[in-house]
Amino acid sequence: MAADQKYYFSYSQIHKQVRRLAEQVLASGYRFDLIVAIATGGFIPARILKTFLKVPILTVGISYYDINNQPTTQPQTVQWIDEVEKKLTGKRILLVDEVDDSRITLEYCLRELLSYQPADIAVAVLHNKRKPKGGSLPDEISHYFAAEELEDRWICYPWDAEDIDSQRLLAEGDPALQPTV
Ligand code: G4P
Ligand code: MG
Repeated sequence: MAADQKYYFSYSQIHKQVRRLAEQVLASGYRFDLIVAIATGGFIPARILKTFLKVPILTVGISYYDINNQPTTQPQTVQWIDEVEKKLTGKRILLVDEVDDSRITLEYCLRELLSYQPADIAVAVLHNKRKPKGGSLPDEISHYFAAEELEDRWICYPWDAEDIDSQRLLAEGDPALQPTV
């Protein structure tokens, strides 16, 4: 843990976390027809997950700002899967995001997706923050997968970093300082 109490992850660490997530999904015995990725933090985890689960990805986007760029209390749909939404009926959906923080976005997306009557819907996140949640998971959810449970601290993802070498150093430490065995 870095001294500033944030979590930092490198791309390599994220990739390994997604592989563990995929292993959890596969070990559940459950199979999914498609991944729905929540923009934008869910994009890269979903794409790596596809390498292991080998199913197509659709994406959805939610915003907490209205058309006048004013903050709102309720999520607003900024992008949805209109033209294919009817194809979700009867499908087994794995909803993917990078972090389960307040859970409000997740709940919103789950309820929207449930309205298309999928055969099954489950959630996979890289990180679940241990904290009181503002949103809740609907009873219809068959599985909840998280690669890691973390304390309620800010997580710095590599795709937000402007200096990827510094990000890797913060996440992994300086290889020159690692003990040799
Ligand atoms: P949740 O239902 O998945 O818990 O999401 P919530 O509405 O609480 O999250 C609001 C936004 O804050 C989301 O991004 C989420 O990814 C982001 N967020 C929450 N905690 C962290 C964190 O520790 N680190 C980072 N980097 N982001 C965090 P968003 O508004 O959807 O934007 P995007 O970055 O995914 O595009
Ligand atoms: Mg996000």
